[in-house]
Amino acid sequence: MCGIFSYCSFLKEKSRKEVLEILCSGLARQEYRGYDSAGLCVDGDKPGTVVFFKEVGKVAGLRKKIATSALNVDKTFVSQVSIAHTRWATHGPPSERNCHPIRSDPNSDFVVVHNGIVTNSAELRLVLEKRGYKFETETDTEAVAILTKYVYDSHHDKELTFTGLVKAVLKELEGSFAFVFRSRHYPNEVVTARRGSPLLIGVKTDKKLKVDFVDVEFAGQDNSDVSTLQPNSPNALLAVPSANPKVLRTQSRAFMSEDGLPQPIEFFIASDAAAIVEHTKRVLYLEDDDIAHIAEGELHIHRMRRKEEGSQTPSQIAATRTIETLELEIAAIMKGKFDTFMQKEIYEQPESVVNTMRGRVNFDANIITLGGLRAYLPIMRRCRRMVFIACGTSYHSCLATRAIFEELTEIPVGVELASDFLDRKTPIFRDDVVVFLSQSGETADTILALRYCMERGALCVGVVNTVGSTLSRETHCGVHINAGPEVGVASTKVCNAYTSQYVALLMIALQLSEDRISFAERRNQIIDGLHALPAQIKKVLELDSQIQQLAATVSENKSLLLMGRGYQYATCLEGALKIKEISYMHSEGILAGELKHGPLALVDENMPVIIIMTQDSLYPKVQSAFAQITARKAQPIVLCNEGDMGIPAGVKTIRVPKTVDCLQGLLNIIPLQILSYHLAVKNGCDVDFPRNLYAPIFVS
Ligand code: F6R
Repeated sequence: MCGIFSYCSFLKEKSRKEVLEILCSGLARQEYRGYDSAGLCVDGDKPGTVVFFKEVGKVAGLRKKIATSALNVDKTFVSQVSIAHTRWATHGPPSERNCHPIRSDPNSDFVVVHNGIVTNSAELRLVLEKRGYKFETETDTEAVAILTKYVYDSHHDKELTFTGLVKAVLKELEGSFAFVFRSRHYPNEVVTARRGSPLLIGVKTDKKLKVDFVDVEFAGQDNSDVSTLQPNSPNALLAVPSANPKVLRTQSRAFMSEDGLPQPIEFFIASDAAAIVEHTKRVLYLEDDDIAHIAEGELHIHRMRRKEEGSQTPSQIAATRTIETLELEIAAIMKGKFDTFMQKEIYEQPESVVNTMRGRVNFDANIITLGGLRAYLPIMRRCRRMVFIACGTSYHSCLATRAIFEELTEIPVGVELASDFLDRKTPIFRDDVVVFLSQSGETADTILALRYCMERGALCVGVVNTVGSTLSRETHCGVHINAGPEVGVASTKVCNAYTSQYVALLMIALQLSEDRISFAERRNQIIDGLHALPAQIKKVLELDSQIQQLAATVSENKSLLLMGRGYQYATCLEGALKIKEISYMHSEGILAGELKHGPLALVDENMPVIIIMTQDSLYPKVQSAFAQITARKAQPIVLCNEGDMGIPAGVKTIRVPKTVDCLQGLLNIIPLQILSYHLAVKNGCDVDFPRNLYAPIFVS
């Protein structure tokens, strides 16, 4: 994935220096989305010209390059538009050439930043090359920039608006994307659009805004604006868009102040709210197939229609985009006293689990209230089965809570990896309840699985961290986990998103079971356990230096096995994932019950093993696994409860407080998060920027 940022100001005088700083800090806040190169462009000295800065590596390198350039940074502009990008390479290796913004030609007629993948870019490139257009990068984005120029050049009367032009271009694209376009033919205008990748627009004014929503301008009912081009055919792209799209309703509001006069205004376009919050908290989220046009201090939102959506009528799409107020605080996206975001988030978990429960768990009356589910509880209680769908860490939180969910609700729960669920075209029925777990709310496979289930009429419930994300908007109902903003990559929200998702799922199970008297005692036990949780997490965090020493003893090894069963199997999988992705050490989570079916062959005196033996009903079975591996000369490190006298003398232990069986995983995961952190530091890895991470925005 990549990070997009754009700054546009109207009647608001700003120096280049100020704008460059706004752009660099917008990129830095989204660096977790991609950090192999960063680039930006701002207005040049002559009208219509642009100045580019591009650098391989992180935003810090780009800043240095800007600081040492000869550009007159004191020059001011009354109105200006600028775009920026931080890249995670997909098409073409990280290089200055492939770094965005990407231009259509040496005159920079059109300049584009892009997040996502245009899957038919090779075909488009072929067709455009045949028409004499020259490509200078290996990116899929360049096909889009050049296609824009082609359509513009072919449109002889040049009456095409910037929006109409971009609309014509987007209709030719396949894949998932978010774009911002600027052009010397349309000075002081930008067009931004999304399909499958997140985009939001921040609005900042000195006076109060006259409106708190923007109407959507729908294209005509006929198919005149629906492309019929076939990019694969040699004659493709001969057609040019007809007239500008018909507008059914034009009620877009100018952003005027209450006195009705045009006022200075700034717009910030970003992939993530974290890049905007330091400037303004007033934002609107774009929907898939929205095209937003910013010009002369106004924002207009248009809809794009695709061939496959020919029958979709405007009435099926929300007619306004509300300007919402972000609840995000700037402090939440700063590292504070910690060296890395990952460390900060590990240490924030006593508070983040409280945030997940805040206002929802009444510890005096032992009552759970999840407002977002209230109206749907009867349907959920009646359903034939539930299916949890997620990827990565979110999938592990589903596994971790499946048993307690089934116990408390007596409804069978299937747990699915989103990609596999889609690959199998899994049968889903109208009376299914499907729960989608996602920290970002933007993971492409999870979104596709959601749309698949919606089409089949299932009730779709979201358990999401990011407010305003696609999953949170497209599900019927749900629970926000309130774990705070995503900042790092593996680190952020994947330590505390795991624990918060875990708690959120528990709360759903508790709420669903509230009408069952026979479960009252069990529910009370769990709710009491939740009450004690933050203090117990604090206690586990005190193990940091012990675990640091442990990391030193295993860091030289090539591999590390984590074993457990029952509730702790998910802990093993999640611990192994953290270790792999942060420290690059191979690590595998093994179900202790499966040892004799293969994994035992890996065990010898040289293989480090962590075995989770906290006390629950499966303790005797894990003791037997312990015996099996020590018989193969392994010297396991045992993650067990404080005061457990059953661990043989001389065995290394990590001792954590005891809690209710179904909550124990919330405590047990923390030493493993800390271990992955110290292994990474020991191995010299960049903790907040792990290499080659799977970009969740892309479909696998
Ligand atoms: C692991 C990690 C990934 C994500 C996965 C799903 O540290 O970052 O495994 O958990 O990509 O992401 P969300 O939860 O945003 O859908």
